[in-house]
Amino acid sequence: MDMKTLPRRRTLSRRILGIGAAVFLGGLAAGCDSGDKKGLTVGFSQIGSESGWRAAETKLARQGAEQRGITLKFSDAQQRQENQIKAVRSFIAQGVDAILLAPVVSSGWDEVLGEAKAANIPVILLDRQIDTPNVDLYLTAVTSDTIEEGRVAGRWLAGKVQGRDCRIVEIQGTVGASLVANRKKGFEEAIATAPNLHLVRTQSGEFTRAKGKEVMEGFLKAEAPGSICAVYAHNDDMMIGAIQAIKEAGLKPGTDILTVSIDGVPDIFKAMADGDANATVELAPDMAPRAYDILLAYRKDHAPPPKWVQTPSKLYEPDTAAAEYARRKDLY
Ligand code: AHR
Repeated sequence: MDMKTLPRRRTLSRRILGIGAAVFLGGLAAGCDSGDKKGLTVGFSQIGSESGWRAAETKLARQGAEQRGITLKFSDAQQRQENQIKAVRSFIAQGVDAILLAPVVSSGWDEVLGEAKAANIPVILLDRQIDTPNVDLYLTAVTSDTIEEGRVAGRWLAGKVQGRDCRIVEIQGTVGASLVANRKKGFEEAIATAPNLHLVRTQSGEFTRAKGKEVMEGFLKAEAPGSICAVYAHNDDMMIGAIQAIKEAGLKPGTDILTVSIDGVPDIFKAMADGDANATVELAPDMAPRAYDILLAYRKDHAPPPKWVQTPSKLYEPDTAAAEYARRKDLY
């Protein structure tokens, strides 16, 4: 070997090494800064498919992931918290970049979310809040104001009956879910301002059509004929079931018994357009796409998002129902 060329070779290889290291470190930095460059992997622990709204949320979660180049690992918990805990642990083991969790109930999350935090995996709550003294366990919660939803429904009813005496029955959602106590609370707050409104019965219909129908049948049997003036259901699917029960009892839903529910799914707009329902409070189904955008921004800027990202709660009545049905029927 020509000894004179050795120092030059060394310098060259140092340079190559230097460039290589810079490229490698740059790549690492890019990976840390915005995982979107390599494509994020997100785990989503979904509650199940109890309602049309839930199905829409799942559909938009898949679509939104695809549009953003995100790999979505989806797990359906079939309404069971233990399945959600297993799913979150499995996402942690797989090393996902983030976890979306729609918590079926509000309590019992601290341990598993602590494990996600220890693994540096941000968790975003979707559509339901959790009870925890340690809000650092999740990055943010994308939900509606579930107390306000109840208030919107109650205010609408108070305005609709205009001082007339009104016996109301309530069909609640899944026991133990954060939003169920809130939807009840908000509704009760709103009707408390009207002494003519009386909440006479309340029972869980578990957010499903079949159970909503069964509960309404029970109410109609238990109450004197013609004495129920209105039904408030915590979601539209239970209301669709209740409407069926009212029809089978020989009454006209929307006229003999007023209806107000929550979600804004296509079938309730159809029922409103047909004169069988009176009002719904919309719950935005695009919670996951909103969460993806929060996550991408967070990975880029490192600025923590607000602890609660609130989605709107808009009231719809029959005047726009046909148009809303046409607009939504294929989206869900
Ligand atoms: O958490 C949102 C609620 O869950 C929806 O209002 C209901 O339809 C769903 O099952």
